[in-house]
Amino acid sequence: MGTDHKPVVQAVGLTKVFRDFWYRSRVVAVDRLDFDIRPNEVFGLLGPNGSGKSTTIKMMLGLLYPTHGRISVLGRPPTDVAIKSRIGYLPEESYLYRFLNARETLDYYGRLFQINRRDRQRRVDQLLEMVGLTRESRRRVGEYSKGMARRIGLAQALINDPDLLILDEPTTGLDPIGTREIKDLIVFLNREKRKTVLLCSHLLADVEDVCQRVAVLYGGRRQAVGPIHELLSQENLTQITTDRLSEGTLHRIRQIVEEEEGKHVISMTAPTARLEAFFLKTVREAQKARPETSGASAGGRIADFLAGGGAEEGQAVVESLIAASEVAPTTGAAQASPAEVEQEPAREVIQELVSDDGILAGRDDAVEGPPAALPGESVEEADRRVIEELLKPTRGSGDERQE
Ligand SMILES: Nc1ncnc2c1ncn2[C@@H]1O[C@H](COP(=O)(O)OP(=O)(O)OP(=O)(O)O)[C@@H](O)[C@H]1O
Ligand SMILES: [Mg+2]
Repeated sequence: MGTDHKPVVQAVGLTKVFRDFWYRSRVVAVDRLDFDIRPNEVFGLLGPNGSGKSTTIKMMLGLLYPTHGRISVLGRPPTDVAIKSRIGYLPEESYLYRFLNARETLDYYGRLFQINRRDRQRRVDQLLEMVGLTRESRRRVGEYSKGMARRIGLAQALINDPDLLILDEPTTGLDPIGTREIKDLIVFLNREKRKTVLLCSHLLADVEDVCQRVAVLYGGRRQAVGPIHELLSQENLTQITTDRLSEGTLHRIRQIVEEEEGKHVISMTAPTARLEAFFLKTVREAQKARPETSGASAGGRIADFLAGGGAEEGQAVVESLIAASEVAPTTGAAQASPAEVEQEPAREVIQELVSDDGILAGRDDAVEGPPAALPGESVEEADRRVIEELLKPTRGSGDERQE
């Protein structure tokens, strides 16, 4: 991407019509959509259910063809294999092989990108630490809770150290602490590691906290686009915040506003904290008192291998970013060089992530039975055999390939 300021993603008149068997228009999922995602920004795609967010992402990944209009990613058509290895994608639902553990899952995706064994091990360790799953890394991901599956999905999206990170509903199923951690992580990846991020969500607090610009979709059409502070600013109101005032002072303020400005005072109340901030404070205090819990632990140690910045500033990212809910404006500074991986496997990764074949979505499916055992084989042996088959070097490319 270099230091140029060309859009990372550009959609012009992008339209997707789903047709029925007789080729009649059934649903106009995306309708003449125009938007740009600029280098090093976190861009939010907002909209209610069914507004066309995931369809837009799928066109961005070259998984669906636009009916009309065009979309380019990193200056190329999305079907170009050269860009696939520069993209990290967290699908709407975590598609995970239920019988692999977290470590094997990440290793598997690392192999698809043909990352050599030593680098894979290092990246897997760092990513597990970062998403708070180190302690649970030997458990089968089929047993994971929704939030844990989201965390491993995010780690998978980062295994190839992508330039563009596409996150479809990354905080679905996460508790408020996990949500805050993922949001802080997105801000950190953007600020310190110079990743461009597309965040797709209908959770407004998520988008408000991390995005610099947003587009709002409804019925597949763009309803609004712009910097978030401009869209949310209320230029026609003035808000003053001070320590608590006496009744007498409040009365005098009301008089001044009414007599000198000819305006009505709309409200003069004690402000309330946002529920999210209150909840986080309460739970963090409880955590300090009793640190042990089951499930995912707090992540936060940033994976060193991710390009773009030094390791030191990453160590305490969660703590350091908690206070910083305002996102700094994009700098347009140099993008890290793309990961040095083969191009073709990256296409496999994305197809893996959306294919239904042998891949299970989320936890509900994960309670299905184990893989079919061969005659005389126990369930555990069948599990192990399938895992070993999956972990065999792919397409004749051994671990030694880049070593
Ligand atoms: N493969 C498909 N075939 C037919 N219609 C589809 C297909 N995929 C999506 N649609 C329709 O396109 C519209 C947009 O769907 P999309 O999944 O893009 O919405 P979304 O904004 O991601 O919603 P959500 O917030 O629920 O994830 C919906 O009406 C949906 O039913
Ligand atoms: Mg969606």
